[in-house]
Amino acid sequence: MQAPVIAPSILSADFARLGDEVDRVLAAGADWVHFDVMDNHYVPNLTIGPLVCQALRRHGVTAPIDVHLMVEPVDRLVPDFAKAGATTISFHPEASRHVHRTIQLIRDEGCQPGLVLNPATPLDVLDHVLEDLDLVLLMSVNPGFGGQAFIPSALDKLRRVRERIDATGKPIRLEIDGGVKPDNIGAIAAAGADTFVAGSAIFGQPEYAQVIATMRAAIDQ
Ligand code: DX5
Ligand code: ZN
Repeated sequence: MQAPVIAPSILSADFARLGDEVDRVLAAGADWVHFDVMDNHYVPNLTIGPLVCQALRRHGVTAPIDVHLMVEPVDRLVPDFAKAGATTISFHPEASRHVHRTIQLIRDEGCQPGLVLNPATPLDVLDHVLEDLDLVLLMSVNPGFGGQAFIPSALDKLRRVRERIDATGKPIRLEIDGGVKPDNIGAIAAAGADTFVAGSAIFGQPEYAQVIATMRAAIDQ
């Protein structure tokens, strides 16, 4: 298992002060910036695109930017996000006609590819492509909104993906996204996650450093 990563989802940040919010959360101990892209087509919500990613880079953000594409189709946006400074680019297999091709495109553009599994997506979407990925992102809510409750069946799914990742012997990260809080992150880590997205749990509190420290302590137990 790799060193734990905490990736606050800026979906729950104050968009009117986004640069400051990202600076603050990184200064508070966050490792990555989780960047939720929604298109009002694949999911019923609309958020931010490559211009905002580029603006964060120009603002001086050097931490990894973890782009979570909830868009359909996927491929046209990949070069735009690569140029805008994305580090990882994860996508939903249902949204791409050629999953293997999209993974290769992300890598060819110089980013790290990730595949996202919705709560009802079976694990067999990982067949034939797992070893080509840098990251598997398990959704523990249905994609589209922050602030939803963690779906408990995600814990068993995490254990099963952890086994499959370990069997490859490759340093593929296992990321969890949705409803992650200080009081469930310990169980989520024990089930095999090493990369933790949290939006409302962090940005909903006044002291980001305190929440992140509490989360790290629970992961390490
Ligand atoms: C949901 C997004 C999540 C979301 C997480 O579609 O992918 O990243 O912002 O928010 P919380 O942590 O509030 O569930
Ligand atoms: Zn996300």
